[in-house]
Amino acid sequence: MPVQIGAQAHNFSDPTGLLSDCHRRIEMFLRTLEGVAPVVDRPLTEETRVALESALRYFREAAPKHTADEEESLFPRLRKMHLPDVEAAIARLDPLEHDHLLAGSLHAEVEELGQRYLAAGSLECTGVEAFRNAIASLASIYEQHIRIEDGLVFPLAARLLSSTEKAAIADEMVARRKVRLVTSTSEMPR
Ligand SMILES: [Fe+2]
Ligand SMILES: [Fe+2]
Repeated sequence: MPVQIGAQAHNFSDPTGLLSDCHRRIEMFLRTLEGVAPVVDRPLTEETRVALESALRYFREAAPKHTADEEESLFPRLRKMHLPDVEAAIARLDPLEHDHLLAGSLHAEVEELGQRYLAAGSLECTGVEAFRNAIASLASIYEQHIRIEDGLVFPLAARLLSSTEKAAIADEMVARRKVRLVTSTSEMPR
């Protein structure tokens, strides 16, 4: 199925490949936030504004769809398989969903502090510290979380889910983003 979101390398015939592509974007925008963290004790520059706005927008608008892809489309199908290989991976799913919750609350804090910084052009000391701590925590959570999903959960899903189930996951991912079916990269939505 020649459908893509943004400039990722996989398409909807390979939904777990798409989910890994999302991880690369999460890592990219996380690096952006890590680049902003050291300078939030200084007056906001135009370069920092552009970088921070793009990262906040990604984590506010796109990243929750990735979480929903996993929690609503992928994980429930793995839980239903009742296969020995899957049982071991399933034991890792609850902690992964807990990470999603934790990351969600840290992102809410980064969003609130980041918007305050963008609006006022500066952050007070407690805000600077909270912003840096939240981003350090996010980096630590994502590093482990993505390693388990890319290294264990997604390969298993790719191997064991039927093509019908993969197609159903893909349909749900499409619906979540309301993307149009396209055949050329020039038409790809972000
Ligand atoms: Fe996840
Ligand atoms: Fe993920």
